[in-house]
Amino acid sequence: MRIRVDTELCQGHGRCYMLAPDMFDADADGYCEPTDERAVVPELFDQARRAFMNCPEQAIFLTEET
Ligand code: F3S
Repeated sequence: MRIRVDTELCQGHGRCYMLAPDMFDADADGYCEPTDERAVVPELFDQARRAFMNCPEQAIFLTEET
């Protein structure tokens, strides 16, 4: 599984770092970080899916690898 955040779409709603605190943090302005595409370790799959499902701007992109 891989995840990334589109910085153009992120509006700082903060659900990602509230629902997936082991994956995301807030920058000084409340926007999500990190935003670079990265691999998700299996222990964080649930958090990744939760963040993906709950971003109101659909700024989080999740790729499930088979
Ligand atoms: Fe941004 Fe969505 Fe998180 S708008 S701060 S990526 S919940």
